[in-house]
Amino acid sequence: MQRIPEPELMDDEAQAQAYAEADFAEPNSHFAALYDEFIGPLAEGAAVLDLGCGPGDIMLRIAAAHPEIEIHGLDGSGAMLAFGRAALATQPELAGRVSFIQGLVPDALLPRARYDAVISNSLLHHLHHPETLWRTVRARARPGAPVLVMDLMRPADEATAQALVDQYAADEPEVLRRDFYNSLLAAFEPDEVRQQLALAGLGRLEVMAVSDRHMLVRGRV
Ligand SMILES: C[S@@+](CC[C@H](N)C(=O)[O-])C[C@H]1O[C@@H](n2cnc3c(N)ncnc32)[C@H](O)[C@@H]1O
Repeated sequence: MQRIPEPELMDDEAQAQAYAEADFAEPNSHFAALYDEFIGPLAEGAAVLDLGCGPGDIMLRIAAAHPEIEIHGLDGSGAMLAFGRAALATQPELAGRVSFIQGLVPDALLPRARYDAVISNSLLHHLHHPETLWRTVRARARPGAPVLVMDLMRPADEATAQALVDQYAADEPEVLRRDFYNSLLAAFEPDEVRQQLALAGLGRLEVMAVSDRHMLVRGRV
């Protein structure tokens, strides 16, 4: 099946609200567990960059589990970031270590030139030019820094995409089911991502399937 790109930013208020209120506990705790497995504790004061952080549930989970780090989340959608800032306000113990920054991959202004780790979940499939993610990873991760990127994998056909929506989002609002379906059609296949990485000079990063709908890119810059 050919890739069908979707809009990059999720800046529609209803769309951002449905996403922020959806139950992503399983995939988000899976990402946090992968962070523990592949990145783990960093040095005191280390800075982590989350590209396309959305409403920040993953960042907040990782910040709570890793008191040694600060974490900066970048997203182009003000609507998404508003949900992230509201969630942060309910966890005052994380204030000062978590920041939400509005800006676009690849040109955003960030507080640090280089980061001690770079993470991203479900951004890649939104990008019309996927190389902008890998260029940002190269530019912003300090040499040797760990990278952890998870994204959807494009299924073989539309019927499989619909079956995944029915299996994993049966009780979600229609706006979220439609976004999930469109995202599956916009996603890349693991071999396409391997090609993107090779072209970006990141061919040492590994790409692997980690569920029936997710792939993981991991390694060191
Ligand atoms: C599916 S959400 C994922 C949010 C979060 N990482 C998560 O796992 O819950 C994708 C996010 O990427 C953001 N986004 C898309 N293109 C972007 C770009 N070029 N620069 C910054 N953010 C972008 C969207 O606004 C959206 O919030």
